[in-house]
Amino acid sequence: MSRREGGDDRLPQRGRHRVAVIGGDGIGPEVLAEALKVVSAAGVQLQTEDFDLGADRYVRTGDVLPDATLEELRGFDAILLGAVGPPVGDATVPPGALERGLLLRLRFELDLYVNLRPFKGVPGSIAEGADFVVIRENTEGAYAGEGGFLRKGTPHEVATQGSVNTRMGAERCTRFAFDLAQSREAHKLTLVHKTNVLTFAGDLWQRTVREVGVEFAEVAHDYNHVDAACIYLVEQPRRYDVIVTDNLFGDILTDLAGAVSGGIGFAASANLNPARTGPSLFEPVHGAAHDIGGKGVANPLAAIHSAALMLDFLGEAEAADRVHKAIDEYIASDHAGASAGTTASTASTTAIGNAIAERL
Ligand code: NAD
Ligand code: IPM
Ligand code: MN
Repeated sequence: MSRREGGDDRLPQRGRHRVAVIGGDGIGPEVLAEALKVVSAAGVQLQTEDFDLGADRYVRTGDVLPDATLEELRGFDAILLGAVGPPVGDATVPPGALERGLLLRLRFELDLYVNLRPFKGVPGSIAEGADFVVIRENTEGAYAGEGGFLRKGTPHEVATQGSVNTRMGAERCTRFAFDLAQSREAHKLTLVHKTNVLTFAGDLWQRTVREVGVEFAEVAHDYNHVDAACIYLVEQPRRYDVIVTDNLFGDILTDLAGAVSGGIGFAASANLNPARTGPSLFEPVHGAAHDIGGKGVANPLAAIHSAALMLDFLGEAEAADRVHKAIDEYIASDHAGASAGTTASTASTTAIGNAIAERL
């Protein structure tokens, strides 16, 4: 067995991170440029490689994610993604072609089973003072693609779309969420589901949380129905610490959590393969936002924060902490406070990136 001098090959090595960059569509490339600027200002050298993927590429070449590109991506230490997808209502790209064919394919193929989405209410927002993390199961549920058509296009058409929930899938995600709750001050976990209607999947999730919870005696856990969680996120967001939930509920709840925490332009995410059998993927929660693309007004903080989550995962905890601190300080200052409650910022995309970089 060969080991490189100085440590375990499996541990991330400082200064040697190879990062695949998928700018994507709309505001994706604009916000990623600021994220990379900040990483460099934090003193971390990345070896980056740009990948031309997204709706633009699809329209030009018909390619979504060629198999060879997927294989190439497996060899990186991490993937940083801006956003992919056509303008909503666009007729040139089939619905879901990019979302399913690129983003979800990466989540599934790379086994990125945890989608970690942290929220801190910015000053002046509905959720001011709240500090919670949503752990969204990222490889199963309604996203698994189970279903199909029968008699398509006829008056007797049938369309089914199943939700796939495995014990293994719920359990590994739940265990990750409990581990996280254990490491946080509040030591609290809330399962969000719809057990009163989705009695099969809900039952599996609830039993899983109860059983895994036995291993984490210091973490208190409770349960909210997803509809009630929507009320609480608006009326009492400070009640939450770690939320664990399935793929679709997690998608919807995190747009709401972003909106109440100051705006979707602040919401970051880490699609994690905790076993590190391949690269993890870091991206803002928001999409391509074609309505503001090219105008220089997109808030890059979600992308910058996502890059900080990447640094942390790559073993650059000190640099990541400095970026987190710079973001927090910037948000606490007048610049961002003035825009709390809206998704757009009053400052330009590059001005915000520069302001964070200058604080490092
Ligand atoms: P969206 O998140 O792109 O935009 C929703 C609203 O939020 C828009 O009004 C937009 O202007 C605003 N917004 C988003 N990000 C912002 C930012 N950084 N700063 C300021 N305002 C911001 O969602 P959508 O319009 O439903 O989707 C557009 C496209 O993006 C679709 O093709 C969709 O499938 C795709 N999408 C991709 C991802 C991803 O790649 N991860 C995520 C969500 C949506
Ligand atoms: C997100 C996005 C994606 C999702 C889409 C683009 C497939 O909305 O990352 O939240 O639904 O997961
Ligand atoms: Mn979403």
